[in-house]
Amino acid sequence: MIEQDSEIIFNKRVAVDTFLIGLKSPLVAAEARPGQFVMLKVGRGMDPLLRRPFSICGIREENLILILYRIVGQGTRIMCDFRKGESLSVLGPLGSGFEMPHKGDMPILVAGGMGIAPLIFLASIMEPGSFSFFAGFGSAKEVVATDEVGSSGLDLSISTDDGSAGHRGLVTELLENRLAGFDGKTSPVVFACGPLPMLKEVAAITLDGVLSCQVSLEASMACGLGACQGCAIRRSSEQAIAYYHVCQDGPVFDVNVLDWGAL
Ligand SMILES: Cc1cc2nc3c(=O)[nH]c(=O)nc-3n(C[C@H](O)[C@H](O)[C@H](O)COP(=O)(O)OP(=O)(O)OC[C@H]3O[C@@H](n4cnc5c(N)ncnc54)[C@H](O)[C@@H]3O)c2cc1C
Ligand code: FES
Repeated sequence: MIEQDSEIIFNKRVAVDTFLIGLKSPLVAAEARPGQFVMLKVGRGMDPLLRRPFSICGIREENLILILYRIVGQGTRIMCDFRKGESLSVLGPLGSGFEMPHKGDMPILVAGGMGIAPLIFLASIMEPGSFSFFAGFGSAKEVVATDEVGSSGLDLSISTDDGSAGHRGLVTELLENRLAGFDGKTSPVVFACGPLPMLKEVAAITLDGVLSCQVSLEASMACGLGACQGCAIRRSSEQAIAYYHVCQDGPVFDVNVLDWGAL
C-alpha cells in the first residue's frame, strides 16, 4: 500500500454527472489489480476530512490510474472541479482484487451504474471475445461509452431502467437470458459490481444455479485500512468468524461467504 501525491493529467466529463480522472501515480499503478480501490484525499484542507474510496477503472501507459466517478455529494462535487496539473494524494491499491477465471470458464461481467468501473479494468486484461459484459444504467444519458474511458472495442450489452438505450429493464435480466443460453460445455463464472439491490439479485440467481460468482461491494469507509470497523458486514452462518471488513477482506467476495439476508 502506497501513499503518493499524484498529478491530475485529465478530468473529463463522460456522461451526465459522471467524470473520468487520470492520475499520474506510477507506484500505485504498478501494483494495482482489477477489483482493488484507492482512497483519494479530495479536500484541500480539513474539509472533507475523510478520504473517499474509488475503484481503479484502469491503468494507462503504466503510470496513470483511471477513476470513473459520479457526483453524489460534497467530495465528488469538489473532484469534478479539479484541473489538469493540480495534484491529490492517492492511497492504495487497497483491498482484494477479483480472482481471475480459469481456462474453460465463460466469464460474465454484470455492472450497475458506477459498478462498471472495476469491471472495465477486469475486462481490459481478459482476451477480447472471451467474455460477456452487461451494464445497466438509469437512462441513456447515464450510459458511459467505453471509448470515452479508453476501452474502445469493448463489446457491452446495455440495459436502462426507462428503455432509452439498450434493453428496457434490469441488467440482471440480461444475465438470466445469457445463463439460459448455456449448453453445459463451459462453466459460467459471474463477476458483479453495482448497487446492493442489484447484487442481491445476482446473488439469488447464482446461488440458486450453484454458479461461481464474485461480487464487489460498496460500504461506507472512513479509513479503508481495517482500523475503524466502519465497513463491517456479516459473514454467512457457515463461516467461523461473524464479520468481514469490506475494505480489507473485500471489496470483492465470493457470493457464498456473505450473509445476504443481513446486508
Ligand atoms: C470500494 C469502493 C469503491 C467505489 N468505487 C466507486 C467508483 O469507482 N466510482 C464512484 O463514483 N463511486 C465509487 N464508490 C462510491 C464512492 O466512494 C462515493 O460515491 C463517494 O465516497 C461519495 O463521496 P461524496 O463526498 O461525494 O458524497 P457524500 O457527501 O459522502 O455522500 C453523498 C451520498 O452518497 C452516499 N454514499 C457515500 N458513500 C457511499 C458508498 N460508499 N456507498 C454508497 N453510498 C454512498 C451517502 O450515503 C450520501 O447519501 C466506491 C465505494 C467503495 C466503498
Ligand atoms: S473502512 Fe475502516 S475498517 Fe474498513
